[in-house]
Amino acid sequence: MCGIIGYIGDKQAQLVLLNCLGRLEYRGYDSCGIAVSSRSIEVCKDAIRVEALKKVMPQLGGTVGIGHTRWATHGEPSQVNAHPHLDCTGKIAVVHNGIINNFQRLKEQLASEGHNFVSETDTEVIPHLIEKYYDGDLEKAVEAAMGDIEGSYAIIALAAGEPKLVTVRKDAPIIIGIGDRENFVASDVPAVLDSTNRVVYLEDNDIGVITADSIKVRQHGSKVTREKHKISWTVEDAQKAGYEHFMLKEIHEQPKVIRDTLVGWVSGEPAADLAVMRDTGVEAMLILACGTSYHAALIGKYIVQELLRIPVRAEIASEFNYYAQTLAGTMAIVITQSGETADTLRAMKRLKEAGCRLVAITNVVGSTASRTADQTIYTRAGPEISVPATKSFIAQLMVLYWLTMSYSKIEARRLASLTMELRQLPSKVQQVLDNEDKILESARYLSGYENVFFISRGINFPVALEGALKLKEISYIHAEGYAAGELKHGPFALLGSDTPVIAIVAQDNTYEAMLTNIKEVKARGSPLIALVEEGDEAIEKVADSVITVPRVDAIFSPLVNTAALQLLAYYTAKERGCPIDFPRNLAKSVTVE
Ligand code: F6R
Repeated sequence: MCGIIGYIGDKQAQLVLLNCLGRLEYRGYDSCGIAVSSRSIEVCKDAIRVEALKKVMPQLGGTVGIGHTRWATHGEPSQVNAHPHLDCTGKIAVVHNGIINNFQRLKEQLASEGHNFVSETDTEVIPHLIEKYYDGDLEKAVEAAMGDIEGSYAIIALAAGEPKLVTVRKDAPIIIGIGDRENFVASDVPAVLDSTNRVVYLEDNDIGVITADSIKVRQHGSKVTREKHKISWTVEDAQKAGYEHFMLKEIHEQPKVIRDTLVGWVSGEPAADLAVMRDTGVEAMLILACGTSYHAALIGKYIVQELLRIPVRAEIASEFNYYAQTLAGTMAIVITQSGETADTLRAMKRLKEAGCRLVAITNVVGSTASRTADQTIYTRAGPEISVPATKSFIAQLMVLYWLTMSYSKIEARRLASLTMELRQLPSKVQQVLDNEDKILESARYLSGYENVFFISRGINFPVALEGALKLKEISYIHAEGYAAGELKHGPFALLGSDTPVIAIVAQDNTYEAMLTNIKEVKARGSPLIALVEEGDEAIEKVADSVITVPRVDAIFSPLVNTAALQLLAYYTAKERGCPIDFPRNLAKSVTVE
């Protein structure tokens, strides 16, 4: 999604903004630009990468400015549609993340009052509207303009000759980074991390007025105080550390992510207080999420049902709002790496209205999800920069194990054995990563195909879904995750020598059935890549390519299997020359429904 940044301080705004835009690139974008103000406002923008913009940009003088990475919604990626947008006098500049629902009506109204529009964007109405109300006080004009606007927005506005930034949000995140004689406004923390780790999160309908040495926040006319947070992430966490891609670095961080979760766990920190389940008659659990986080939710369903023995539903947040729900006695868990996914936040609102107890599992301190939930459990993944989610997924699974094992109702001996095995998990995942060369061979084999099925059963069925999602999003190979037993109910028609099948086989109660499914696949001529536990000779014999993972209890098998499939997707995409960290059309934080 779009990224926004504002700077005011004692440095040349152009350099600071361009640097921050580079840190926003990971969100996904197609155009970018900045505006710098001194007595007048100068804008430089285009449908190009930040590096390219740097090369073509003239020097812009001024110590206050705004910048934007655009992910096109209204109007194609082009110079004229790129942000910042100006009003027709050139006095007001605006960057915006979100969607203005009533922009068409506002545009017609403003045009009839003499405002000229040059772009196809919804955003362009904002500077015109601000200009309409402007009489030398930007804050007042922004407040008046927001009264006319319907939609979701995170906005930063700038007026020529006024040394301040005015920012406002509704249903889209805004953070203010507090520096030393300088301040920042941004859509997320990594954008400002190399300047400050002290941030303030704005709430919906807040108006922030930021100068180099002051931050003032008001809501509905009254001054409000927003808590300062210290972010534990470092700037190094958000850099590539010598890896070719963020995705590869983040995959390799997974043993540490598991270890970091275990540190909290074994030191006796409670993951979350589920005592509420006993005390308030919680009878069922609902886990909601989107994308990769939804696959963690599906695995959560298996874990919770096995360890807590209560009924669990896992649902896609974007579908949750479209049917009647029976929510009495239900505790809801939402899983969201960013904490800003619009569909997930909308479902959270509905759950709150229904009176559900709401636990959020998120990676971003202070995110909207964390502030909406009754209780938040932070995943210990560190900043995830690459668009494809990897380490955040593993961190989400670790939280689910932590949560459920802490309140487990299973037999003590089994619980003790799982607890023992926990300590081995970082090294088990490390063993998968150490097998990179073998996975690369399978990736070379896979990279020549255009269609592929991932199949599995039981707790590894969601792993098949995740393997397929990872492969399709970064290699552009059409991949489908399927419950192995469902292949014969339709997809068999597509099997053959040009459609490989990747079978994920765990040594659990699904093993025999998977063996049968593999034989069916082979009989139909599909090449077979098998992901098996070490020593599984029966499957190794029939597979065209084999990836082995170390043996773990089946309940933990999604950790090792997913790590292997992430590497398979990574190297397949690399073989095909794809832009791995920033796949086409995708964004890291999906703040529109
Ligand atoms: C895929 C991916 C997405 C996200 C989804 C939800 O690699 O990253 O599918 O998982 O957009 O995002 P969060 O977890 O931030 O709610």
